[in-house]
Order: sequence, then structure tokens, then C-alpha cells
Amino acid sequence: MLYSDDVIEEVRYGNDIVDVVSSYNISLKQRGGNFLGLCPFHNEKTPSFSVSSDKQMYKCFGCGEGGNVYSFVMKMDNVEFKEALNMLANRINYKLSQTDNLHRQRKAGNDNKDRCFEINKLSARFFYDTLMSEAGEIARKYLDNRKISKNTIVKYGLGYSGNSGELYTYLTDLGYDPNELVSLGLIVKSKNEEKYFDRFYNRLIFPILDGRGNVTGFGGRIIGSGEPKYLNSKETPVFDKSKNLYGINIARRNRNRELILVEGYMDVVALYQGGIENVVASLGTSFNQNHVRVLKRYCDSVILAFDSDQAGITAALKAMPIIAQNGLRVKVFSTNEAKDPDDYIKKFGKDKLKEQFSNAKSGITFQIECLLKKYDIKKPDESVMFTTDAVKILSEIDSSIEQDVYLRQVVDLTGISDFAIRTELAKTGKTLSPPVKPRRIKPPTEVLMSASKPNKAVTEAYKRLIMIMAYEPQVRNEVSKYLSIDEIHVDIYRDIFSNIFELCFKNEQIYPAEFLNRFETPEDQKVVANIFLSNDDIYISTTEKEVNGLVKKIKDYHINQYMVGANDDESLKNLENMRKTFVDLYIKISDG
Ligand code: CTP
Ligand code: MN
Repeated sequence: MLYSDDVIEEVRYGNDIVDVVSSYNISLKQRGGNFLGLCPFHNEKTPSFSVSSDKQMYKCFGCGEGGNVYSFVMKMDNVEFKEALNMLANRINYKLSQTDNLHRQRKAGNDNKDRCFEINKLSARFFYDTLMSEAGEIARKYLDNRKISKNTIVKYGLGYSGNSGELYTYLTDLGYDPNELVSLGLIVKSKNEEKYFDRFYNRLIFPILDGRGNVTGFGGRIIGSGEPKYLNSKETPVFDKSKNLYGINIARRNRNRELILVEGYMDVVALYQGGIENVVASLGTSFNQNHVRVLKRYCDSVILAFDSDQAGITAALKAMPIIAQNGLRVKVFSTNEAKDPDDYIKKFGKDKLKEQFSNAKSGITFQIECLLKKYDIKKPDESVMFTTDAVKILSEIDSSIEQDVYLRQVVDLTGISDFAIRTELAKTGKTLSPPVKPRRIKPPTEVLMSASKPNKAVTEAYKRLIMIMAYEPQVRNEVSKYLSIDEIHVDIYRDIFSNIFELCFKNEQIYPAEFLNRFETPEDQKVVANIFLSNDDIYISTTEKEVNGLVKKIKDYHINQYMVGANDDESLKNLENMRKTFVDLYIKISDG
């Protein structure tokens, strides 16, 4: 969106909803804290359109329409949000012009970026042409030795940078300013600033493209041995190492919602050639939040296939929680028989590797196995340390069902008693994990296939709990420790809970009309408005008992959904155990 939340909120704040509604020739009569009138959205003779001045929202008890001042204008004038914002800003003489400037600045920035992409593209083309020319023979031989086919070369646009100075001459002849080539990291200036050199020479070139197909930077491998083995673009206006995923331009075309994440350029290229097209590399940079943000657009699940050395294992262990916390599934391929996936294909062939990928173990299993290697659990003191570390891993799992599955795995692998582990786990207070960050976790589809839609009693429980949590910070803080959003089974309510949890972490007060801004579609806004205006009393009165009853109803429904899909005694037993844990759950709400 073009305008900041602050601007949106300031404009809303300046436009009192009672004034705005009245300005549409709707006559409103005061009734207690509310105003009542004839609904403009449906035909009626007795007023059921209620506008709350406290909450700055409206709701029709006849047709169910509801929202804040933005939804009202959008609906009345049949305009988009941006237009409604303009109209309401005008109404109070609020200048949106600073944001226009921002827009212009952004546009200038984009023009500059386009020019960078253009120069990079010309360079990539130049490297490719060099590879195919006579001068490129040495590089073609190198690729041939590594069994890289012509087709793969073309697909990834591989190239060769020959003698230093060639790219410089090529680009300056085209009229580009040496300084802009320097800022793009293609050319370097000599120390005394008199001479220019090509940054890449005598290297095999891997152009790095973003998801849209723009060339953002380059990696160059030395032909043969030498240091550094790989040279990469430096940070430029269009190259940010911490975001790039090599191969994303090709992997994204694959419909597969699972991506394989490797370390190196060569792994990507070799796997692609082996028919594994859903592969990207994080380019030796440690994998981070920015990478996940890019990945999330293209997949739901990631297989980590890093190098098999200790550095690769450490990197995988570090990447795992980052990926999992973003709601993606993580699996791991690891082997002692090859140094990296490229090497594995060379030794065992693509079919064997594909088989390995389809049997990849879960991230949690991998973490536990790593622990088992670290400790000798036959020794009592190490067994204790193992348990402590394993419990830490288990406590990070945010579906209680999964937590249970892995807990059993630890029991099976180690012989450490179920009771001992559960006791440790209970100490972390995370047996039923609180939501760490609001996020949407999809329950495993195979289990939920036969799930039914929540009945009215359950949706009423969602609504009532949302309302209570919105107004009672105490309840909000306590409940958010025991309820996680994957236990909510209707999208819109899950969104609402997730937003409430988020505000709870920021410790912010909730104002209904402002809260509504967080929802984009009129349908969603309507549901939210209906929750907050479902009855006329502004002050919610509730009891600890009621809150606990609501939480139980919601959890009960959640478990039943899994029950429907559970088809063996083992999982049924687990689910029953889970039910037992929350039957005993009683959330204390202190009023201090
Ligand atoms: N890397 C880098 N700079 C280096 C070494 C490595 O940027 N000096 C990055 C590269 O993206 C490289 C990845 O880390 O592809 C993995 O490094 P490595 O395992 O050493 O390279 P391989 O991909 O195995 O390369 P090759 O098979 O060509 O030896
Ligand atoms: Mn490698």
C-alpha cells in the first residue's frame, strides 16, 4: 500500500463517523451511546442502522453491513480504499502530498534500478558471448570436464570473463560512465584512481537473477585452482547478498511447492541438469530471514541439502528454526558419502538423489540425530545433557500433535523415559506452545481432509473470546500463552486472533475502528465489525470461568478435527493424551 498506517489512522481519526454518516443525508437519532437511523444499504421502515461514536463503527442489525468510516465511504460511493482515503483526507484538509513525494522518489529509484539491470544484462550477455568465442575455449573445456551441457549453460546464462579490460571497453564504448560501472561492482578503480580494471577476469561467470528475471549480480569461479575460488558482486543498489537465492528465476517456474536449498552455484546447476529443477542456493551467505521471505512466495516446504562438512551441518541447524518459524516445513538431506549434492549426483546418479530427497528426514529428526552424535547417552551425565537439549528442540515445536510425535521418537531412540522427558518439557512451560509470532500454520492436509466446518457454538466461542481479549488485556495476555492460532479453524477468525496476539506482544491497546484497518476486504471488515458491535454494551463483563470454557471449546474442536483423520490406535491414543492435558488446563487470570 502506498500510504503508511499512520497516515491512514490520522485521516480516520479526523473524520468522526457520526458526522460522516450524517453528511450523506442519513438522519441519526441518539440512543444511549449510539446513534440510530435508516440503513442506507437496504430498504427499511424502522431504523436498525446503528452508529457507535465510541467505537467509531457502524453496523446494521437488519442486513448485517458493518465497518468503520473507510468501509462506509467505500460502500456508499462505490470506490476503492485509496479513493475513500482521498475523499476523507480532503474533507478535513489533510495533505497527502508528502506521500506523493515519496512516490516520486520511489519512481526515480526505480529508474535507476532499471538502468543497473540493463547494464548487468549487457554484461551477462558479453560474458556469454565470450564463453562461446574462441577466447572461451578454456572455460568451455572446464565445463565439459564437469559434465555441464550446452543446454544447462544456456539455461543459466553461464559465461566467461576473459582478459581484464574487455568488459570495461565494451561498456564504455556503449556510452556508460565508468563511475556507474564502478558502483555496480563490475569495474574497479586503481589505487591512484588513474586506471580501471574489470573486477571479473579469467573466471567462469554465473549471472545471478532475481525472481522476475533481472540480473542483479554475478559470481565468478576461478578456472582450476586459486584464491578466491569464488568472487561475487559486492553490494550494489540492486545486489543484496542477504536476499539473493541463486536459481530462483528458474526454480519458480516449476510448479513444485517444495524447494531444495543448496549451498553452491554448482549444486544448483548440477541438480537442474539431473532433472531436479526446484533448486536454489543461498550462495555461501548464511541463510537468514530475508531469504525465507523470498522463499515463502514460491514454496510451502524446504529440503535443506547443504554440504556434508561440519560447516554445512551447522548452517543447516541454524537455518532450520528460521524456516520453521515462518510456517514452512523443513526437511533435511544429509550424507557422509559425498561432499555436496553436486558430488552426490556425480557418484550415485540423479535417480538415487531424487530418492534421497523423497525420503528426506524431518528437520526435528535431523536435529535429534545431531544431538545423539554429540553425547554418549550411556553415560548418565551426558544423558541428562542430551535430554535437556532435546527438550529444547521439542519445546520449539508449535503444534502439540507434532510435539508428541517427536517426543515418542526421542523415547524410542534413547530409552529415556516418556515421563522424564514430559517432566522436563513441562518445566519449559511450552507443552502447549504459545504463539511466538502470529503466523499461519497449515495443519497437515491428509489429517484434515475429512474435517467439517465448525458449528455455530464454536464460531460463537471464537467471536466471544475475540471480543473479550480485545477489551481485557489481562485475558489477552494469559490466553495467548495457551492458545495458538493453528487451533483456530476458520480463516477470518484465525486472522483476527493472529492480529490480536500481535498487538498483545506489542502490548498495545485495541481500538475497534483502528483494528479494522488491518483487514483489507469489505467482507473481512464486515465480520470484524460484527464481532465488536454484536451487542450494545461497551463494557464486557466476564469471568475466569467463562474464558476457560471458551478456550476449552475451541481446543476441543481442534482435537476433534484431528480425531476424524486419525486412522490408527497409536495416533488416537496420542490425541486422547493431548485432550487430557487440556482438560486439566485452567488459565488463571490475575487482576493485578
Ligand atoms: N562461496 C563464495 N566464496 C568462496 C567460496 C564459496 O562465495 N570463496 C560460495 C559460492 O556461492 C559457492 C558456495 O559458497 O558456490 C559453496 O562453496 P563450495 O562448497 O566451496 O563450492 P562448490 O559449490 O562446491 O564449488 P565447486 O564445486 O566449484 O568447487
Ligand atoms: Mn560445495
